[in-house]
Amino acid sequence: MRHPLSLAMLVFIVAGCHWNEKPASSPQETAVMYPKDFLWGSSTSSHQVEGYCTNNNWSEFESAVDDSGRPKILGGQRSGPACDQWNRYPADIRLMKDLGLNAYRFSVEWSKIEPAEGTFDEAVLDHYEAVIDSLLVNRIVPMVTLHHFTNPIWFERKGGFLHDDAPRMFARFAEHVVTRLQTKVPFWITINEPSVYAINGYATGEFPPGRKNYDEAIRVLGNLLRAHSDAYGSIKSINPALQVGLAVNIFIFEPYQRWNPLDIAAAYFTHRGLNNATLRFLTEGVFEATFPGFVSTSFSTGRGGTFDFIGLNYYTRFLIHLNPLSKNPVSHRTRETSTDQLTDMGWEIYPDGLARALRLIHSFTARPIYITENGIADEKDSKRGAFIRDHIAVIDRAITEGIDVRGYFYWSLLDNFEWAFGYARRFGLYSVDFTTQKRTLREGSMTLRDIIRARTLER
Ligand code: GCO
Repeated sequence: MRHPLSLAMLVFIVAGCHWNEKPASSPQETAVMYPKDFLWGSSTSSHQVEGYCTNNNWSEFESAVDDSGRPKILGGQRSGPACDQWNRYPADIRLMKDLGLNAYRFSVEWSKIEPAEGTFDEAVLDHYEAVIDSLLVNRIVPMVTLHHFTNPIWFERKGGFLHDDAPRMFARFAEHVVTRLQTKVPFWITINEPSVYAINGYATGEFPPGRKNYDEAIRVLGNLLRAHSDAYGSIKSINPALQVGLAVNIFIFEPYQRWNPLDIAAAYFTHRGLNNATLRFLTEGVFEATFPGFVSTSFSTGRGGTFDFIGLNYYTRFLIHLNPLSKNPVSHRTRETSTDQLTDMGWEIYPDGLARALRLIHSFTARPIYITENGIADEKDSKRGAFIRDHIAVIDRAITEGIDVRGYFYWSLLDNFEWAFGYARRFGLYSVDFTTQKRTLREGSMTLRDIIRARTLER
């Protein structure tokens, strides 16, 4: 521990801190009209929708079992053909059009593009180029994510993002893809949610490689940020006009028991070590994360401002509990609330958290923000419409406050492979019948269509 703090001091620091912020809602609000170039989109990722990802860390993980022989994925499911978007993209693009969407965020699959180290499959890039052409013909702006949780097996075997050379290997891949597609794709996301990848893969073990080691988790987070910074540099040197960002997930972290100094400290350090540390890295090039008693690390790349926009993925708030006697000392829980406030993930529906996340980002940078993910798992579709309406109302207020929000991407266009939950969580604007691949518009999704129709300025 590099900066020991006494508990009393800590409680003092934390008192009145971020989670005591007053609620962002105010009843009297005027709906904002959105400029024509505001991006209304949906988001997906290759492994979750494309199908046929058989050469990456997730395909391996899906066939693995834990020590007691249980599969790693709920119900032993595998991603398999997923939504078959690899073949069905023309029809899916029509579905976007039907909703009035003008942007699509999707990822390209590293394991298909670079199946062996240094060997690039140009036919796969031809495929992505065809997808992009089809989006452009339909006046849908592509936003491409280069890394969304999946690694080629060759890269995983070398140690993945634990490897010191990982940032260089990733930047080489990024360079190859961007060189090929740069004239057609204005927006690039280097990496999706570095802290979720690091924590789920290396601390909780829910994601591959299923490790439970805080020290590794923090090293991986540092390397992902270095990889972002290197890739940012490479992409901008290929074409300085490209807009490059990182998709940062911001969860609102609060103490589970508001009176418990351990929970207060754990929530405080989690917020700083994940949310703030990522934003500080982007703006200043300094990474510093301290979890007293667990791990502590810091480094500087000497290069701040390695982003043109922030991609914000926002879903919910988590209540942090610290029990030093438990095998998993830090856990997160959900506010005890009625089930109509919860999604099928068991996550609290908390639109004010979006306001807090936007303000937090704005306190680090005035550069544009695109909400690159926000959505709800709601199989019955009884909450989706209100969820969308209430989160967009927060964007209205943020814009009125002077925060430069330029896009909203709903997660997700389609029901898809929800990682450790397999196909058991339904986020889609369209439901998918995975035996027939039939897509059906959910009623709640019409709220998004109606808002776009009613609130977009003509010119
Ligand atoms: C993430 C990812 C998405 C998820 C979505 C719903 O946040 O884990 O970016 O791949 O599917 O967030 O959990």
